[in-house]
Amino acid sequence: MSTGFKIPSHYRELPQLPGVEFERCVMDAFRTAIAQLVAEALPALTIEKVLEGVDYGKKDDDFTVHLGRFRLPGKLDENSQKVVDKLQPGDDWVEKVFVDKGFIRFTVNTTTMNRLVLDQVYTLTHATPSGLSEYGSNTLGKGKRVIIEYSSPNIAKQFHVGHLRSTIIGAFLRNLYEACGWEVISMNYLGDWGTQFGLIAVGFEKYGSREELEKDAIKHLFDVYVKINADADKDPSVKADAAAFFKRMEDGDETALADWRMWRELSVKKYEEDYKRLNVHFDVYTGESQVGKESQAQALSQLEQLGLIEESEGAKLVNLEEYKLAKAVVRKKDGTSIYLTRDIGGAMERYEKYKFDKMLYVISSQQDLHVAQFIKVLKLMGFPWADNIEHINYGLVQGMSTRKGTVVFLDDIIREAGNVMLEHMRTNEAKMNRIDDPEAVAQEVGISGIKIQDQTSKRINNYVFNWDRMLSSDGDTGPYLQYAHVRILSITRNNPELLPLPPMSEIKTELLTEPVCRELILNLGQWPFVVKMSMKKHEPSEIANYAFRLAHLISQAWTPLKIKGEPDIEKARARMWLFLRAKDVLASAMRLLTLRPVEYM
Ligand code: ARG
Repeated sequence: MSTGFKIPSHYRELPQLPGVEFERCVMDAFRTAIAQLVAEALPALTIEKVLEGVDYGKKDDDFTVHLGRFRLPGKLDENSQKVVDKLQPGDDWVEKVFVDKGFIRFTVNTTTMNRLVLDQVYTLTHATPSGLSEYGSNTLGKGKRVIIEYSSPNIAKQFHVGHLRSTIIGAFLRNLYEACGWEVISMNYLGDWGTQFGLIAVGFEKYGSREELEKDAIKHLFDVYVKINADADKDPSVKADAAAFFKRMEDGDETALADWRMWRELSVKKYEEDYKRLNVHFDVYTGESQVGKESQAQALSQLEQLGLIEESEGAKLVNLEEYKLAKAVVRKKDGTSIYLTRDIGGAMERYEKYKFDKMLYVISSQQDLHVAQFIKVLKLMGFPWADNIEHINYGLVQGMSTRKGTVVFLDDIIREAGNVMLEHMRTNEAKMNRIDDPEAVAQEVGISGIKIQDQTSKRINNYVFNWDRMLSSDGDTGPYLQYAHVRILSITRNNPELLPLPPMSEIKTELLTEPVCRELILNLGQWPFVVKMSMKKHEPSEIANYAFRLAHLISQAWTPLKIKGEPDIEKARARMWLFLRAKDVLASAMRLLTLRPVEYM
């Protein structure tokens, strides 16, 4: 599907190289022009080969090529000089070339860049015929399907930070894969099976209340679980009853399953409300209970045939010591199933049903061994698709609690985020009064704070949960991004005399001559590339850090690019246009990170 953006024919024509889509990433046109220049100067190199080595520059240049990587005959300096000599003055694409310590550094034509980047941002954000594509998206995953499993809390247990991280990172990955053209199936694999449900059944008889359950199933079941656990510690018969009950559930005894069904359903309903507030969505709610007996039995018998199973006191173990993955129980003594075996069977069923090209599990690094074990088993069973499974792991979060230090459920955290943010906002009464629904805004901005704190450093790093830091409006935080977005929206409100803006082609982007304009536009041009980088590493921090850089540039541009009081109306309009396009990209980056950009705060 065409994006509706085309490079006008009056620019010098460039070859279309594989893997490059000018209509989605116009900076690739500049990269192509640079590759062409280098390849013409050095016939030993093909243009395709050079293109791989045209990198975005760091500080004072737009792109660099490190010639050394190509191991050409002849002296590096002389070869570099050939490239410099090849540039024709007045070229549409490349403005300047110079050689610096083994690197060739390129500056692109500013007039061309200003025009094409801003046109592209606008067209892909507001005027694409399909209305589907967005600036930053690409088609790398076209025709491919990915399953992304995330969040996956346990019913009747706490929703802990590990689950919150999985939720945030998973929801981000879902957006990222969609932006890269994949068909995504998002899955929540609930911990809704296992001996603890026998325990809850016994507990529910003693402590359960239908009314409480309807009010908040998650909290009530947790309370019951805590109480009956305490009983079980004192009285071994409770455990025995629980095990017997779970055995009945495993055997499919309908009377034993009826209550469990209701608990599950009410818990899912409650979770769905919380996820909605977090802007998180699942295509499929599944769970450990949904994994069939057959697939698990098939896995066990196949493992026996492979000679990988050992018996130990009636239980079955798979021996993966040869792969440094220890031994793991795959079947308990009483014949009931187990977490590991369910994951093996579950993956088999998912492949049968969805024929995925890739499957991601977003699970804490605390479960590294578990995940490595079940992926290894699937490989040993000979499934070729097992190579397309990836574990997206992440570090620990310390100290997530409400300020009162109470036990935390997801909705406590969401509520607390709103409360803390509201207190911050109250310090500016005048501003508060201008907002229609301060609670809703505080909620949204507060959630942004949590999400951004989570996505700012590499996912494998641990971090400490800190309300004040994450919600502060200075520093690289969620509220800071929201504020940058809101501030740009105020430009149109405050300058109605410049509206309506003329159509795109009549905006005089050549009047954007200040150095900060150049920096900002170059940054906007990099967005599609940043999306690809983030995809390569599955790293939200790539996007978060890009968003911060963009927000900083916007704030640096604020004073030099004044709009109110600028005597040249065409210039004032071009500046407004630039800020609005920066807003488009900032909003895209925020949405990719699962934020909902607010309009007032
Ligand atoms: N419910 C599990 C837990 O809370 C996480 C499930 C992760 N997913 C999986 N396929 N094992 O620890």
